[in-house]
Amino acid sequence: MNLSNAIELYKTQTESFLTNKINSADIEDPRLKEAMEYSLLLGGKRLRPFLVYATGQMFSATLSDLDAPAAALEAIHTYSLIHDDLPAMDDDALRRGKPTNHKQFDEATAILAGDTLQTFAFQLLADHKYQNVNPAQIIKMFSVLSQASIDMCAGQSIDLQQTDTLDNIEKNQDALARLKNMHRLKTGALIKASVKLGAIAGNANEGELEILSNYADAVGLAFQVWDDVLDITSDTETLGKPQGSDLDANKMTYPALIGLQDAKNKATKLIDEAVQALGLLPYNTAELKLLAQYIIERDH
Ligand code: IPE
Ligand code: IPE
Ligand code: MG
Ligand code: MG
Ligand code: MG
Repeated sequence: MNLSNAIELYKTQTESFLTNKINSADIEDPRLKEAMEYSLLLGGKRLRPFLVYATGQMFSATLSDLDAPAAALEAIHTYSLIHDDLPAMDDDALRRGKPTNHKQFDEATAILAGDTLQTFAFQLLADHKYQNVNPAQIIKMFSVLSQASIDMCAGQSIDLQQTDTLDNIEKNQDALARLKNMHRLKTGALIKASVKLGAIAGNANEGELEILSNYADAVGLAFQVWDDVLDITSDTETLGKPQGSDLDANKMTYPALIGLQDAKNKATKLIDEAVQALGLLPYNTAELKLLAQYIIERDH
């Protein structure tokens, strides 16, 4: 299967599961439910679910056992985007090609939709009818996903503290290490959790988890470096979110710190590392390899 077929297949799988689950969710305020659905169901590349499905299937987990962790990752990710766009954070008006949640509804509703999506994610993991995943694996998935969500918030907090500091810092190794750490937390954590939840559902052993973590660390950092690059090189229509948002907000990004070309080179190097890590696994890693390459080929 080529990459776009695999992306489409997992996207369809994710979206039909999420549609089903949100429709039957017990949310006793129609406006809140509508706001959740608005951000969750309309758009998005669904790359975190892809990583859950591709990793899990590599270890022979069933698609149906992977539905809950894949959807949980997408729900947490969507909540992070809704809050990321709020006026108190990046203050953006466009997301996934549509008005951001707080523009379509209002700020309070957007905050609550994010809050509810976060809890909904863990409910999905808890209530799923697993076929071949035991309670110990389920608890491990909870543990990994909750820590990753905490890490994501820590990364967002650091991001906001580093905003507007560009003109006053020395652009040295120390600044680069702080930027890398912020990217590891705000974006890398959920990407790594996606790979890990797939592996846990597939009952991977510790050695395999470690190799996959190395892959995910490299992919996660490359993903955010490339997101920073696209803020400069792409356009608003293709991105579905405002091009130049980082520049306008004076954000700490890889291009801002090391320049556009070096940022691109860094992402390419990270993807080489990710692919190399996969070479240590005695499984069919074709989908994970293609996904890694896609990270630095994508235009949105
Ligand atoms: C955007 O993530 C936010 C980052 C962590 C860089 P995606 O680029 O995966 O956004 P969607 O889900 O496709 O909208
Ligand atoms: C977002 O980073 C990371 C999270 C939402 C956790 P960005 O602020 O760069 O994401 P975009 O560019 O708005 O999608
Ligand atoms: Mg942000
Ligand atoms: Mg943002
Ligand atoms: Mg960005």
